[in-house]
Amino acid sequence: MRKQFAVIGHPIEHSRSPELHQAFAQKTGIELDYHKRLAALDGFETSMQRFFAEGGIGMNVTVPFKEQAFAQCQVLSPRAQIAQAVNTLWMQDGQLHGDNTDGQGLVDAMTALEWPLQNSKILIIGAGGATRGVIYPLAQAGVKEIVIANRTLARAEQLVADLHSAVPDTQLTAMALDDLCGQFDIVINATSASLTGDALVLPENLHFKYAYEMAYGKASRFLQQAQARHVPTAEGYGMLVAQAIEAFFIWHGIKPKLKDFL
Ligand code: ATR
Repeated sequence: MRKQFAVIGHPIEHSRSPELHQAFAQKTGIELDYHKRLAALDGFETSMQRFFAEGGIGMNVTVPFKEQAFAQCQVLSPRAQIAQAVNTLWMQDGQLHGDNTDGQGLVDAMTALEWPLQNSKILIIGAGGATRGVIYPLAQAGVKEIVIANRTLARAEQLVADLHSAVPDTQLTAMALDDLCGQFDIVINATSASLTGDALVLPENLHFKYAYEMAYGKASRFLQQAQARHVPTAEGYGMLVAQAIEAFFIWHGIKPKLKDFL
């Protein structure tokens, strides 16, 4: 039997992970099966444990189970500990290991675009799990300053309080979305506003050189506004591919090249 991999979520039908991992496998000459696994909203733990009990090798975790996966792990990478969420699971020496490759995926996607991260000043809009997951990898990539702007200021302030000691060389501050202004190298939309079709308004006195939308495949008012300013923009497909590459690397020890799959 070929090595078994899966992505678990609810819903799961939309997941691109099987096709990505199959494409990486083909390119690197590795044989594997990679399936979508739908778990009931209260059935993550049972489904995940059954997968590994039946000999599964590695599992990706998507919405809404990343925090539950984090809670189940016996061994966590530092970046998963800081994210408090896990998107990549595997068994090693009888223990469930967890990592989070989302933030490195964002860093790798922006690096592939040749957007400068070293010593940069970045604005992240949103203060949910998506933002939490990218702060540490951005800091590791040499980002000098990160401002987290959120509709609910208290959530951004909480994130800064939680994470500032994990990123001692990066200045981390919170801002209310209503006060959005200033000069940034990169602005990242990490809100779920584009998924719901809500508009984020980028005011005139907010200046930036690059704009990244973490969501993909949807018309994004955030990106439309950035494009109207003629700055380079990108949506989250690159991040999706890059986080999958990082998971593939954890499981197989081989790193496919991002540019081959964009
Ligand atoms: P995720 O884990 O994907 O980050 P989340 O934890 O639900 O999801 O967080 C969603 C983020 O999008 C939050 O920062 C939310 O702002 P609030 O904390 O104020 O709720 C933000 N968000 C969602 N819809 C938004 C909108 N229409 N305008 C601005 N921010 C929005």
